[in-house]
Amino acid sequence: MELLNNTLAAKYSERALSRCKILSEISEMEGGILRQYLSKEHKACNLTVSDWMTEAGMTTWQDSVGNQWGRIVSANPNAKRLIIGSHLDTVPNAGAYDGILGVLLAVELAALVTELQIELPFHLDVVGFCDEEGTRFATTLIGSKALAGEFSPDWLALTDVNGVSMEQAMTEFGLTPNDYSSSALKPEELIAYWEAHIEQGPVLESVDQALGVVTAIAGAKRAIISFIGHSGHAGTTPMHLRKDSLAAAAEFIVSIEQLAKNSKNGEVATVGQIEAKPGATNVIPGKTLMSLDIRAQNAPDLDALLSDIRSSVEKIVEERNLAFDWQWTHQAGAVDCDEEIQQLFKSACVANSEDSPFLPSGAGHDAMAIAKVCPIGMLFLRSPKGISHHPSESVIDGDVTKALSVLYTALIKQKNASL
Ligand code: GLV
Ligand code: MN
Ligand code: MN
Repeated sequence: MELLNNTLAAKYSERALSRCKILSEISEMEGGILRQYLSKEHKACNLTVSDWMTEAGMTTWQDSVGNQWGRIVSANPNAKRLIIGSHLDTVPNAGAYDGILGVLLAVELAALVTELQIELPFHLDVVGFCDEEGTRFATTLIGSKALAGEFSPDWLALTDVNGVSMEQAMTEFGLTPNDYSSSALKPEELIAYWEAHIEQGPVLESVDQALGVVTAIAGAKRAIISFIGHSGHAGTTPMHLRKDSLAAAAEFIVSIEQLAKNSKNGEVATVGQIEAKPGATNVIPGKTLMSLDIRAQNAPDLDALLSDIRSSVEKIVEERNLAFDWQWTHQAGAVDCDEEIQQLFKSACVANSEDSPFLPSGAGHDAMAIAKVCPIGMLFLRSPKGISHHPSESVIDGDVTKALSVLYTALIKQKNASL
């Protein structure tokens, strides 16, 4: 039977939702959710999810960079791996579902396989990624890039806001920093990677649909840009003799907003962090650091906007007679979801009477890193009001039940195709 019984679908999806709430309590922040890479909350979260995986009939392990795994072991001696997951880390003051729900739906799917005694010809591997958001260190997709064999040894020297290096944090967490390559997946062992995730945008709600099949994930680049001027006395330095790095950054930020607004295909650019130094009311800021996050559905659009942004910063520093420095912290090209998996998910939606549309993802996901080593597919759940990266991020209970039913149908179809 390709369809999951409604009572089971409701029971298991309700448990996934209640567990999202349990994980939201494992937080570094008072009154909000924050779980960063290699924090003690990361460790506690992995342990809790590991217990739930064990309860679902899985064997569990944590890999060399801190991703949490569970496996329903196949009896097939030549079994390959179907991996399903998402991330367990969060942005500051996060919602309870971004990433987390995808992991917990995969755990419920595994629990159903155990409960219904389904024999799979492949290992069903569930992964909870350790860092998708890049909240702690100036890089992102750390867990999934390690699986794709793309963990950069340079990252070990990156430091967090407290000056703790990734290497030190890994050691304190109980990991061996130089062992990152043992997390890399072997492409010949893989069937595919699937990820269920909240849409984090308004499209599905606008067409009154619970679910959507993702076609592609937008490319993204992130950089830290520094303006280097000159500090000076706020009372004695005449305006025309100043080299104010913060005023330059402010002009640049407004120009980035304008350039992105004028872009042709909905490209977006965001400055989400800024730090002026030395940071005193009566001192002209001599150095200002700011982040830049820029995204587009394809490389030419991203490059065109970027080129305009580069011209703008060059003009601003020339007019103001300042220096600037530009360091890339993340560069990911747009990634297509596998055609066959899109069709598999679409047919699973149709089998469950869901008229789910195809849509691209504007947000980044672990799937984009995993695409380097196997075919990927993503299923989106409607995000009420399109809200995400905010405490009021939410999901509709019935949508979660539908998502679990669709994942179940897709799994049975995959099983039948793999026999
Ligand atoms: C991940 O949430 C992203 O920044 O797209
Ligand atoms: Mn996110
Ligand atoms: Mn996410």
